[in-house]
Amino acid sequence: GHPATQEAAALLDQAERVVVFTGAGMSAESGVPTFRDALTGLWQRFDAQALATPEAFRADPALVWGWYEWRRHAVQQAQPNAGHRAVAAIEARVPNTVLVTQNVDDLHERAGSANPVHLHGSLFAPRCSACAHPASTPYGEADEPTDGPVPPPRCARCAADIRPGVVWFGEALPTAALEAAVEAASSCDLLVTVGTSGLVYPAAEIPQVAARLGATVIQVNPEETPLDRVATVNLRGPAARVLPALVEAAWGDTDQV
Ligand code: NAD
Ligand code: APR
Repeated sequence: GHPATQEAAALLDQAERVVVFTGAGMSAESGVPTFRDALTGLWQRFDAQALATPEAFRADPALVWGWYEWRRHAVQQAQPNAGHRAVAAIEARVPNTVLVTQNVDDLHERAGSANPVHLHGSLFAPRCSACAHPASTPYGEADEPTDGPVPPPRCARCAADIRPGVVWFGEALPTAALEAAVEAASSCDLLVTVGTSGLVYPAAEIPQVAARLGATVIQVNPEETPLDRVATVNLRGPAARVLPALVEAAWGDTDQV
């Protein structure tokens, strides 16, 4: 295999404590509509920033809820890719592996990852906009992919509007998730960063914390990113091809991939 893949495979095989840190590129080959791609049909006359903010939800809960329901259905039509399965294979092989994702889809879970840390929340964790009580599934009447406003369900506990469980522009990241991610990055000996542009903070801090504290960093991304400067090995390619090759080079064929 490729010399960089061999080098990365040796690092992965020797690692005792691994963090896998993923971004939107992880889901690219699953065809999940990206944040911007999700602005099609009715949504194309909106700017993402105009929908993914607390102000937008307060102004028109049905419009914002309808958009996230449309995207949740879009994610449900998508399938995890070989990259998601390779991440699950790493977790199966290295017990001390923590998966930290910026993605709000559930493709890591559907590929077998038990407990990803969702730094930006999840499309599948709606909660009450007032008392934060989790919404029960199904989340609302729309069990069909809508293409327009849908009134959000009411909280069973306080009757306020249920909101999407994702981090909006201007909102802080969930404290517990951020603390778990920093803790894992601070104590790992290897961090594999996949499919993130490394531009959005504070999430982009995670690989830098690991590198600063002496961890080895492997980056998987077809493009250059600011994380190139902290990466020990750069695997320039798409996650769904590179990650299975990395796992295969480290441990031979594993059935999960
Ligand atoms: P999102 O961009 O996270 O999109 C969610 C889905 O689209 C995920 O499945 C993700 O994998 C996929 N995706 C996103 N970009 C992609 C790409 N370029 N290629 C392929 N797939 C891609 O949008 P969201 O649902 O609104 O949730 C995240 C929210 O959190 C966004 O509004 C985002 O801007 C916000 N955010 C806040 C902070 C912060 O620090 N407050 C940081 C980052 C993101
Ligand atoms: N395999 C690996 N990486 C890929 C692939 C692929 N098949 N396709 C694209 N990429 C890379 C791109 O080169 C880019 O660097 O994935 C990265 C995607 O970057 P962003 O779109 O900025 O996604 P992300 O880094 O996750 O953004 C962080 O900001 O917009 C918000 O909510 C969004 O949580 C996200 C956060």
